[in-house]
Amino acid sequence: MHAPRLLIDTDPGVDDALAILMAHHSAEVVGLTIAAGNVGLGHTVANALKLVELIGAETPVYPGCATPLVRPAADAAYVHGEDGFGDAGLTPSSRRAADEHAVMAILRLSREFPGQLTLVALGPLTNLALALRIDPELPSRFARLVIMGGAVNGRGNTHRVPAEFNIGFDPEAAHVVFSNWPKFDLVDWEATVRHGLDYAEFAQWLQVDSPRARFYAAISRRTCDWAQAQGRARLYSADALAMAVALDPDIISQARECHVGIELDGSLTRGATVVDWEGRLQQPANARIILGVDQAR
Ligand code: RIB
Ligand code: CA
Repeated sequence: MHAPRLLIDTDPGVDDALAILMAHHSAEVVGLTIAAGNVGLGHTVANALKLVELIGAETPVYPGCATPLVRPAADAAYVHGEDGFGDAGLTPSSRRAADEHAVMAILRLSREFPGQLTLVALGPLTNLALALRIDPELPSRFARLVIMGGAVNGRGNTHRVPAEFNIGFDPEAAHVVFSNWPKFDLVDWEATVRHGLDYAEFAQWLQVDSPRARFYAAISRRTCDWAQAQGRARLYSADALAMAVALDPDIISQARECHVGIELDGSLTRGATVVDWEGRLQQPANARIILGVDQAR
């Protein structure tokens, strides 16, 4: 497996943290651009700084947009904790965020590493949408885009049944990206549910005597407890699955290329990812929908 060079747009977030740990273990990470989403931007930036300090990496952290493009949206503090890291009370990092805005960093890094970067989007797509509006040629300078988002058969995870959190938090941003990025890999919530992790096995991983294991055990405790209280049979780690697909596309066992649009209106459906499975609209397929992966790998 040839490790890709990654730029990660993220709203850390407990599952984002696992994805970012995986990325630093297996690839070169040129930067973390930070979105608001799971919790507010102040927390997501602080969490990203805490992560890179724990990892001992020099990865720059670029603060992004504090709000969705158009309408306000509810965060996911009920899942990730008020601080986004399980309210574990960890000492804040002494690291400082970069002065450069995430949107400008995305544009600059795409020029510094033309055709070399895999962009992994693990949060709402606000930063990426703005970068696209500033420079419509942006997609041509990335080797690949992997998006964690959506629910391809309408089984979402928010108070709007068909909407998954990342898309539902900023549907206008998702519409801009889905309408202007010619082809991307889409790892949706339903795939996340099909590829859940065994709680006991996950707990064993966290028994390893290492600072990262202790850190992750601390920040994930609340999310694990919440998920089990919800009666979830397995632990769903959406961003970790998307990162696995980004790091090693050979694990993909089943995928379909379809056109996916974003619903912007509708009190019941705003934020839905609408898939033209039969190609009836005769629009080019923008998404390679990841349906199955070799989970053992
Ligand atoms: O729906 C799951 C997604 O929303 C994940 O990226 C999680 O971190 C939250 O942002
Ligand atoms: Ca996320």
